[in-house]
Amino acid sequence: MTFEAISPRFGEGVGAGRIRIFDTTLRDGEQAPGAGLTAAEKLDVARQLARLKVDVIEAGFPSASPGDFEAVRQIALETRGGIAVAALARCKDGDPQRAVEAIGVAERPHLHLFIATSDIHLKHKLRIGRDDALKEAVRWVKWAREKLGRDAEIEFSAEDASRTEMDYLLDVYEAVTEAGASTLNIPDTVGYAIPSEFGSMVGAVKSRIRDQAVISVHCHNDLGLATANTLAAVQAGARQVEVTINGLGERAGNASLEEVVMALRTRPGQFPSLAAGVQTEQITAASRLVSYLTGFTIQPNKAIVGANAFAHESGIHQDGVLKNPLTYEIMTPQSVGLAGNTISIGKLSGRRGLQGKLKELGYDVDADQLDAIYRAAIALADTKKEVTDADLLALVEAKKADVPRSIEILGWSVSSASGGLSVGSVSLMVAGDPKSGSSTGNGPVNALFKAVDEAVRPNLHWNPVLTEYEIKAVSGDGDAQGQVRLRARRSSDEGPGSYVVTGHGLSTNIIEASLEAYVVAVNKLHGAEVNGLGVAFVGGRTEELP
Ligand code: KIV
Ligand code: ZN
Repeated sequence: MTFEAISPRFGEGVGAGRIRIFDTTLRDGEQAPGAGLTAAEKLDVARQLARLKVDVIEAGFPSASPGDFEAVRQIALETRGGIAVAALARCKDGDPQRAVEAIGVAERPHLHLFIATSDIHLKHKLRIGRDDALKEAVRWVKWAREKLGRDAEIEFSAEDASRTEMDYLLDVYEAVTEAGASTLNIPDTVGYAIPSEFGSMVGAVKSRIRDQAVISVHCHNDLGLATANTLAAVQAGARQVEVTINGLGERAGNASLEEVVMALRTRPGQFPSLAAGVQTEQITAASRLVSYLTGFTIQPNKAIVGANAFAHESGIHQDGVLKNPLTYEIMTPQSVGLAGNTISIGKLSGRRGLQGKLKELGYDVDADQLDAIYRAAIALADTKKEVTDADLLALVEAKKADVPRSIEILGWSVSSASGGLSVGSVSLMVAGDPKSGSSTGNGPVNALFKAVDEAVRPNLHWNPVLTEYEIKAVSGDGDAQGQVRLRARRSSDEGPGSYVVTGHGLSTNIIEASLEAYVVAVNKLHGAEVNGLGVAFVGGRTEELP
């Protein structure tokens, strides 16, 4: 049977001449320690991935937690326009059923089954032999094909493929193809491969399978080679690439979407007639959103999306770029969504002007979000001489990342002077009841955080534990807004794998920004507990606190 016979949809635009972009930011990316997102945040990222026009959104691992199941289901319900929604499942009873339940509502469901095949994983992790792994792989691929029908996309991954004995690996891929897999993914799970070697591996799988399945690759970045390996694989015949925004992912991360896509676009001669359908102008907005929500800041010299990626410092370079940008730029900033300053926002600006400006910066917001951002921008214009692009982006991010709240801030005060302790007090609305707390601290922020702990203590059986705190000015002016990013966990949830959330606050008053970020984090921790550990909110308000 040829691949087209199994999955006629393949011919609809992902065939020869087209690289399928499989984004796994919401699955492998979210596995990065501390990058956990709430369901509402995952939905927000999925919407941006849809604007980016990736081909497949891997939305999560439904068996991992009830929260992740719900997030995948919501993304599957909402994602339309030909974008497939994938869910990951082990070849193990319970997992595939749960994944199918979550993606069953998708316009284009894409089931991603995996089992490890390298001897080291089989012996030490799964404690089974090669034959058992092959049997399980075939069993679950067959099950999925019968369950989902001939049109569904069924992907099989041989985990740790790059350290798997080659003849056995080829046998596994052949057997699962016969069982009905339509995509064969070759993961370089531990980032061990070297480009020439990885390209040969793809070539060998391709010759054994011929055109009966799409070859996919999934490269990790432990040696900094994820993008190079992915591109070598494309040159050797891979037609699906698994990537993440900002290269987020386990350990050193995955191949980054922006690097792979821009390499395909910038060097068409190296990838004859192969293009990706990605709307590259949405890359910067996607990168900022993911960085903001996960709390993973982007190094300034990161390719494509780093703050310095299009900055020219030296006089010689500046002179060259002014004469002709091609001297030092291999792609334009506009092509990745870094817009020039064409409309500025001030007190007299209207909603339409703001919407146009946000579009230019790569953000599509709904009417409610536009209204909230508009009101915040106008209020900011009262306290700040100039509302810059950076200010607007910070406001958009803050409004987009708004979380359902059981705990709201009603007011606060703090006193602090040289040489002594600070004293802070807060009044909060906690599940509809007014509460207050006060405390001393070694500084104003510490005093206020402790006051919050005191106010919420009767309602929670744990204390929030701050694990990271960072503050930066949004712009360079003296009246700039301060943006606080912090991380926290519950005192009852310690050690590796503990659930860590990110909180953000934004204000021209940095004490207020800090308090806001802390209360957002406490709301998230509480919501996660209410909804099952892991991913927290699924729209709407959380249940009332006990
Ligand atoms: O890295 C890996 O092997 C994976 C698989 C589940 C595809 O993430
Ligand atoms: Zn991976």
